[in-house]
This record gives sequence, structure tokens and C-alpha cells, in this order.
Amino acid sequence: MDWVYISQLSKHIGEDIEIRGWLRRKRSSGKIHFLFLRDGTGFVQGIVEKSSVSEEVFRTAKKLKMESSIIVKGTVKSEERAPGGVELLVKEIEVVSIPEYEFPINKPDHGIDFLMDNRHLWLRTQRQFHILKVRHEIIKAIRDFYNEREFVLVDTPIFTGSIGESAGNLFELDYFDYGKAYLAQTGQLYLEAACMALGKVYNLGPTFRAEKSKTRRHLIEFWMNEAEVAYYKHEDNIKLQEELVSYVVRKVLENAHEHLGALKRDMKKLEKIVPPFPRITYTEAIELLQKKGFNVSWGDDIGGDEETAIAEEFDRPVVVEKYPRKMKAFYMQPDPENPDVVLCDDMLAPEGYGEIIGASERIWQKEVLVKRIKEFGLDLDSYDWYLDLREYGTVPHSGFGMGVERVVSWICGLEHVREAIPFARTLYRIHP
Ligand code: 4AD
Ligand code: MG
Repeated sequence: MDWVYISQLSKHIGEDIEIRGWLRRKRSSGKIHFLFLRDGTGFVQGIVEKSSVSEEVFRTAKKLKMESSIIVKGTVKSEERAPGGVELLVKEIEVVSIPEYEFPINKPDHGIDFLMDNRHLWLRTQRQFHILKVRHEIIKAIRDFYNEREFVLVDTPIFTGSIGESAGNLFELDYFDYGKAYLAQTGQLYLEAACMALGKVYNLGPTFRAEKSKTRRHLIEFWMNEAEVAYYKHEDNIKLQEELVSYVVRKVLENAHEHLGALKRDMKKLEKIVPPFPRITYTEAIELLQKKGFNVSWGDDIGGDEETAIAEEFDRPVVVEKYPRKMKAFYMQPDPENPDVVLCDDMLAPEGYGEIIGASERIWQKEVLVKRIKEFGLDLDSYDWYLDLREYGTVPHSGFGMGVERVVSWICGLEHVREAIPFARTLYRIHP
């Protein structure tokens, strides 16, 4: 008998096959056991009928507990009402192991702390399976997007000696004789170097921020996709972001439809995500917030609640551009029409999922950059190589970073970003 994965069962209707997996749940009556099986590719119901198996097989089915590992042989039967359209008429069961204790995650209403403490086991439940599958499709779509457009993947370092974003939330460590080093907050500075060599580049990797904010959108370790393109200006940059985000949503709707359905995501809302996206300036955003009763004035930060209030006005992601120079990172190009603001944008997801992209045109003139590094109180010496990029063949260039978990949360419709990553690192949690 051939070993077949559950996802492939519909190609084997009427055949005798073998599944290697685990028992998720069991329902029994005197004459029949329903084994809900999983194998990492999907879920299927196996039926053990007393009248059609040996006594021994029926007894084995009876003693199986949740998360027993088993190899099951049987006949694939078409069943319209079943998820995936099939079920399995079980003939034989080979036990690999039966746990001694009851599986801890066995109720629909465990508290979140308990679930996070048991994240290594929680991953096995259906909801987490579907979320991780969507995450996988999102990351695949991101890579396909860049590959189709001749971008080159450039893996940027995780240890760095130059502060990439801001001094406020760095993880600092000792780096041999060198002294202080940091965990990367961003790979951007390295992508800027790489785009001068390869034109269009991107990365996808973990980034680290010692954020003291405990919100449903913040992780300490999160994955970021960044892109950087030589000769791109602010406008080109925004267009690329719109194309990326709408591409990812479209591909996930195509390829992960089943998983979004299982998560009960309202897919009608995702179908609306087509460019161009609405666009407002930071100044207009502040005016909008004031109209909505927020106590904010020009120059104030736009926090989580404010982001939600702005995004509420639109059914697609909204691009908020040209923030005050003083609130943004040192490397952003001032707007030639108004040097108090910079040529940057934040993309805010609809439905209250907050900022999914941070972006800007970069300062490409050496003297302007030196001035800004000093203004920010950063250590000029550690940027010698970064300033070289403005010495040799400097050109305007632009790029952005997209937070993978924020996008996963939005596309899946999650309440909290901790479910969007296999093992979340948050302010109070690094275990398991
Ligand atoms: O806006 P940020 O800080 O931008 C940068 O780091 C730039 N250097 C990127 C670039 O231009 N190459 O971060 C980018 C995105 C945010 O828009 C947000 O989606 C996500 O990363 N992000 C976080 N996601 C989860 N937890 C956190 N603590 C996050 N901080 C930022
Ligand atoms: Mg940002």
C-alpha cells in the first residue's frame, strides 16, 4: 500500500492507501469510531466500523488518545460533505505511540496564556495549521513577486555595528574586541549598498526591536521584507508597494482560499485590494483625526488608535505620506517643496491592522546625510561605509520594509500578531 498525504487523497478515490500521521480527535459509539486524522498536509475523517475490521483493530481504535501517532491503512471514499471531499474507511491501524497523559489542549476555551505556554503543542490544532499555511503562501507570494520583476535576493546581516533605524529600541551586545554591536532593526542600510551593485534588491529576514509597547501589533522579533531600488523616487516607491501588497493578497486568495475559508475570513474585503490605493498626506491625516475628535496637532506621532481611525475611512490600504522630518528616521530625503517634511510613506492596512509598510526616498547627497546623522546624535564613524555610498556613484534611491506578521494578521483576520508567527517573542515571553 502506498503512503499518501491527506492533501492528495482526492486523487486516490477507491484505492487502498496508507496515511502516516496523528489522531487529532476521536468520537465513538459502540459500533463505530470516527478518527479525525491529521498529517501536516490536512485533516481527514477515518471510519472504523466494528462490522468491517478485525476485533483487534477495533480494540486498538478504542484505546487511542488524542495525538497518538498512528499509521492507518484503508480505502479512500468520496464524501461530498467532508472537508476535502473524502473520508477513509479504515482497515488497519499501526500504533507508533500512544501518549501516557491526556493532550493538554483539549477544550475550545483555553486562556491565551495557557495556549502560549503550550505553543509547541498548540501548533497542532486546526486553526494554527491554517494560519501557518497562509503565512507560508504570503511569504511564497512575496518571493514570487520579486522574482518575476528581476529583483535579486540579498541577505542582510543580523549582527550590525551601525544603528539602522533609531537608538531607542536596540538590542545591544558585546562583539569581541570590536565593542558594542546590535541586533538588526532593519537590513535597509545594507540593501542600499546592494542596490548600487545590483539595481533592484530585496531581503526577507528576522529583525529585532526592544519595544516596550505591549500591543496586539508589536513583536520583539518579527520578520520584515525590504526592497530597495536604485534611481527610484518617492512616486516609484509607492507604486511598487501598491503592486506588492495587491499581488500578495491576490495570490493568497488564489492559493490559500481553503485556509482563509477555514479561518472564516471575509474574503470579499480582500477582493477589494486593488491599486491604486487612496493617498493622503500626514497633514491631511492630522486634520482628519482632529475632525474625528482626536486631540492631536501637527508634529504629533500617529499611534495605533489614530491609525485605525484613519484606515476606517477606506476599504483599501491607505498610503499616508510626507511626515514631519523630526519624527522620522535620519536617512529620509527632505521634500524639496517643503523641507519640514520628508519623502516617506506609511501604508496602513484596512480593518484596524495598522502600519504594514514603512518607506522613504533616501538622502543621497553626502553633506545632507552627514548633517542628519549628527543631528540625530548618531556615531558618524560607524557610518563611514554608508557615507561611501554617497561618495562613489551616488544616485537617488528608495525602498521600504513590510512587516510580515502584520500582513499575516490582516490577511487572516487575527486579533493579535502573536498567532501570526510560529513562536512569538513578546515583551513577557521567550518560552517555548
Ligand atoms: O516602519 P519601520 O520601522 O521601517 C523600517 O525599519 C525601514 N528601515 C524599512 C525600510 O525602509 N527598508 O518597519 C517596517 C515595518 C512596519 O511598517 C511594520 O509593518 C513592521 O515593520 N514592524 C513591526 N512588526 C511587528 N512588530 C514590531 N515591533 C514592528 N515594528 C515594525
Ligand atoms: Mg514605521
